Amino acid sequence: MTTLTLTDKDTAALKADVLVLLSRTSDGDTRLVTAHGVAAETEEHINATLAAIGAKGRLNETTKLTGVPGVSAPLVVVSGTSLEDEPQASDHESIRQAVGAAIRGLKGTQHAAVAVPGPSSELAGAVAEGALFGAYAFNAYRSAPKPSSEPVAKVSVISSAARTAAAKAAAKRAEVLAETQAFARDLVNTPPNDLYPESFADKVKKRLSGTKVKVSVMEERALAKANCGGLIGVGQGSARPPRLVTLTYAPEKATRHVAIVGKGITFDSGGLCLKPATSMITMKCDMAGAAAAVAAVEALARLGTPVAVTAYLCLAENMTGSNAQRPGDVVTMHNGKTVEIINTDAEGRLVMADGLSFASEITPDVVVDIATLTGAAMMALGVRTAAVLSNNDDARERMVTAASRVGERQWAMPLAEELRPPMDSQVADFKHTGEKHGGMITAALFLREFVGDNADGEQIPWVHVDIAGPAFNSDGAHGYTPTGATGYGVRSLVSFAEANV
Ligand code: BES
Ligand code: MN
Ligand code: ZN
Repeated sequence: MTTLTLTDKDTAALKADVLVLLSRTSDGDTRLVTAHGVAAETEEHINATLAAIGAKGRLNETTKLTGVPGVSAPLVVVSGTSLEDEPQASDHESIRQAVGAAIRGLKGTQHAAVAVPGPSSELAGAVAEGALFGAYAFNAYRSAPKPSSEPVAKVSVISSAARTAAAKAAAKRAEVLAETQAFARDLVNTPPNDLYPESFADKVKKRLSGTKVKVSVMEERALAKANCGGLIGVGQGSARPPRLVTLTYAPEKATRHVAIVGKGITFDSGGLCLKPATSMITMKCDMAGAAAAVAAVEALARLGTPVAVTAYLCLAENMTGSNAQRPGDVVTMHNGKTVEIINTDAEGRLVMADGLSFASEITPDVVVDIATLTGAAMMALGVRTAAVLSNNDDARERMVTAASRVGERQWAMPLAEELRPPMDSQVADFKHTGEKHGGMITAALFLREFVGDNADGEQIPWVHVDIAGPAFNSDGAHGYTPTGATGYGVRSLVSFAEANV
C-alpha cells in the first residue's frame, strides 16, 4: 500500500522524485492552480511553458516538465483539472480525478509530492484521496512483477494546513477509504477460479478478524433449511456451493440501523440460458456489490461511525452443471414467496431476494441493496453512473446526495408500476422477469417483493443501487479509476451510513 504523509514544506525544500501540480484553463489560457509552497518564479516558469507547448488543462491531460526553477524534485507533472477558476469546495471531485490521473501515471515512482490548492483541510483530504485511489495496481497474478507497474510507494501532500487536526483527520479518512476500496477492487479483480463463494467467505473472515465486525457464514445445508430457494437454486448448477455471509457492526452509541445487501455472483455464465462468449468475459465482476458491502462495513468500523450496520453477502456461482436450475422451475424464497424461473441469467435478483428477506427480519431503519443487476442499467446510463430506485423518495434522495458528496455518480430512476403485472405467473406467486423493455425497473420491482414491513406495518424504506455499469471498467483507465475493478459503491455506502447516524 502507498504511504501518505502531510507536510507544509515548500517545493524547494521538499525532497521527492516527482512534484505533481494542477492546472486550470479559461479562454484558452492554461495556468497553474495556486498551491501551497510553490514560489512565484516557479509558477511563472510553468505558466509560460504550458502556453508554449499548448497544454489544454483538461482532465486526464498530464504534462511532464524537467528543470523547473524553485523545485527540488527532478520531474514536475502538471495535471489538468478542466476547472476554469481556482477550485471551490464543490470541485473536490475534479481535484481527486486530476491528482488520481497523475499518480496513476507515475507507477514505479518511489516518492511523489502533490501540492494542495489553497489552505483547506478538506481539499487536502480530496488530494490525498485522489492520490491513493489512483495509486492502485493489481499485480497478484503476474509471475514476475515489474517495478515499473508498482504503485507510487510514498505520497507527500503539501498543504499549509498540514499540522492541523482537521487535515490529519482528512488524511486518515482518505487512507481508510482507499484501503477498503482497494480491497473491494482486489476481490473483484481476483479470477473466478480462485474467488468462489467459499473462498470469498474465507477471505472476508480473515480480513475482518480482530476488528469490530462480526462475521457469520451460512453453508448450503443451513441455507436449504432456511428455505433460501434463491441462493440454493442459482448455486445448484455449480460444483462450488453458495454461502450467505452476515456482517454485524454494532457500536454502542448507535441509535440507527442500516442493512446492506450485496450481490455476490462470483461468476455469471448465465446458467442454462447461457450468455454469449463475449458477454461472459467480465462476469467475474458480478460480485462487486458484495465486495462493496464488505469494504464499506470495514471502513465504517475503522472510522468508528456511530451507526449499526448489518450486511448480507449473497454468494453463489451461476453455472450450467447437470443439476442446474431450469426455466420452468418454481423455487420458494426465504420469506415464503414462490417464484417461477424464466431466464436463468436473471440470477442476481434471486439471490438478492433471500438476502433482502433476511435483512427485513431485523427491521432496520433502512435497507440498501447494491448489485451488478442488469445490462439495462448500462443501456440507460452508460458505464459511469449507477441507477437508484427506491420505495421511498426521501431515502433515495439521501442516497444520491451521499454518493455525490464522495464523487460517485448516481441517478434516480422510477419504479414504474405498470411493469409489475407482466411478472404475474400461471403457477407461482410471480415470475422473475416480465416485459422486455425497462429491464432495470422490472428487476427492482422484483426485489421490492422481498422487502418486509416495519413495526408500524409500513414497508421498510429500501434503496436499490444498480452498479452494472460503474463496477467494472473495460475501457482505458481515467482519473483515479483503473482498468478492471473500480471499487465503485464503497464510498457511497459509507457516506450513506454516515448520513443515517
Ligand atoms: N450480471 C448480469 C448483469 C450485468 C450485465 C452486469 C453486464 C454487468 C455487466 C445479470 O445477471 C444479467 O445477466 N441480467 C440480465 C437479465 C435478463 C436475463 C432479464 C440482463 O441484464 O441481460
Ligand atoms: Mn445473469
Ligand atoms: Zn448476474
